[in-house]
Amino acid sequence: MGEALSSSELRRVYNNAAHRYDLQHALLTFRSDERGRRMVVELGVRENDRVLDAGGGTGLTGRLAARKAGPDGHVTVFDLSEGMLEQARARAEQAGLAARMDFTVGDMLALPYPDASFDAVLSTYSLCPLYDPAQGALELYRVLKPGRLLSAAHSSVPPVRPVRMLADCIEGAVSKLHWLSLGCRPVDVLPALIAAGAELISCKRIGVPLWPFLVFVVRKPG
Ligand SMILES: C[S@@+](CC[C@H](N)C(=O)[O-])C[C@H]1O[C@@H](n2cnc3c(N)ncnc32)[C@H](O)[C@@H]1O
Repeated sequence: MGEALSSSELRRVYNNAAHRYDLQHALLTFRSDERGRRMVVELGVRENDRVLDAGGGTGLTGRLAARKAGPDGHVTVFDLSEGMLEQARARAEQAGLAARMDFTVGDMLALPYPDASFDAVLSTYSLCPLYDPAQGALELYRVLKPGRLLSAAHSSVPPVRPVRMLADCIEGAVSKLHWLSLGCRPVDVLPALIAAGAELISCKRIGVPLWPFLVFVVRKPG
C-alpha cells in the first residue's frame, strides 16, 4: 500500500482539485467509477432512508442516493474538504435535491454522530486516501443501525501478478504527484469489518484490470 497523506494535506489536495475532480477521477478510472457509485446506491439505499455518504466529495453518490431515498429520505454528504462540499451543494441546488441533503465538514475517522444513527452508510472511493482505512470502515459501521447495510466501493490490488506489478510501478510514480493521485491507493477493509461481526452480503470486482474496484455490501446484525 502506498504512503498515506495527512488529513491537512488531503484537505489541501481536494480543495485544489474540487473544480476538476469529477472529470479527473472519471478519466483516471477510465470512467468505471460511476458504475461503482450506481452499484453502491442501488444495493445499499432504500426509500425513506436516512443516509450517510462519507467522504462524499462533490456529491456524485449523494445525489444518486437522494433520488433513491425519495422526498422523505435524507442524505448527509460528509467530507473533509470545504471545496468539494461547495461543489456538492451547488450541484444539489441545480438538481433540485438540496432540500433532501445536508453538507457537513469533518473527519470520517471520528464521525460526530452517535452509534446507530443512519439507515444506510455509503462510501465511494473515500476509504482509499485514509491513513487508516480499516479504522475508517469501522467508524462507518459504528454509525450504522443494526439490521441495515454499509455499501462501499474502493480501489483494490489487481489479482493477476503481472498486472499488479505494472500497477505498482505506475502507482509508485504517480503517488508523488498528489494533485494527480489525490492521495488514493488500493485498500482492504473487509477483514476488519468481518472481524467486527459484519455479515458479507455481496462483493464484486469491477473496473479495468489495472485499477480494479471492489464493491461490497455488509449488514450489521440485529
Ligand atoms: C476519491 S474522493 C471520492 C469522492 C466521492 N465519494 C466520489 O465518489 O467520487 C475522496 C474523498 O474523500 C474525502 N476525504 C479524504 N479523507 C477524509 C476524511 N478523513 N474524512 C472525510 N472525508 C475525507 C476527500 O476530501 C474526497 O472528497
